[in-house]
Amino acid sequence: MYGPVIQGKLVRLRPPKPEDAPVMLTWFENMEVTRFLLLRHPPSIDMEKEWLDRTARNPDEVVWVIEHKGAVVGTTALHLIDWRNGSATTGTVIGDRSMWGKGLGREVMQLRAAYAFTQLPLRKLKSAYIDGNVASARAQAAAGYREIGRHRADMFVDGKWRDHVMTEVLRDDWEKAHRARAGAKRRRTRSV
Ligand SMILES: CC(C)(COP(=O)(O)OP(=O)(O)OC[C@H]1O[C@@H](n2cnc3c(N)ncnc32)[C@H](O)[C@@H]1OP(=O)(O)O)[C@@H](O)C(=O)NCCC(=O)NCCS
Repeated sequence: MYGPVIQGKLVRLRPPKPEDAPVMLTWFENMEVTRFLLLRHPPSIDMEKEWLDRTARNPDEVVWVIEHKGAVVGTTALHLIDWRNGSATTGTVIGDRSMWGKGLGREVMQLRAAYAFTQLPLRKLKSAYIDGNVASARAQAAAGYREIGRHRADMFVDGKWRDHVMTEVLRDDWEKAHRARAGAKRRRTRSV
């Protein structure tokens, strides 16, 4: 399935279109972008179109394209949705390197968690990052994910074996953090 439009402050999540495929390919040509990804080689245009097509038909995932100021800069998703147990595995790529470090990833993960916990009956989001991917670790933490364990020396990056860090965010923790943030915002508004 494709995800519906979700408007944030910095990003707009929207359903992918077939014409997004050529720009999506270019992200996987850049080793800086793929350094901490499992997909390390660019797919062909046919593979990318096929992936978009297959994804649209898959009832167990929700995929969005990430737009910033009208440009397509990345993709994010809830994969492997387990409806019985209420979980999904999340992933994000901001393929446009020039857009890193501007807060887009953090907002994407927050919007996606809000969607999973308020629009879908999910109770847990699982994810992971390769040790050293500081931006991913921090963006996930800002959306409520916590480390729950590691596969040690699991992934080969730049000539070194690195830990694969498993993370998750539970609906209960997300709701508590959400209430705390809303309370802090109300207090700030009252004090101005
Ligand atoms: C990981 C990724 C999604 C993060 O998105 P982003 O827009 O670059 O991240 P943000 O700007 O929202 O920053 C998130 C946090 O990381 C920090 N950060 C960003 N880049 C950083 C860097 N190079 N070094 C250290 N910290 C960094 C930010 O300061 C912010 O921290 P804070 O919330 O404590 O203030 C993005 O960099 C990306 O797509 N990378 C390539 C693919 C990838 O690794 N995907 C994740 C696989 S698990």
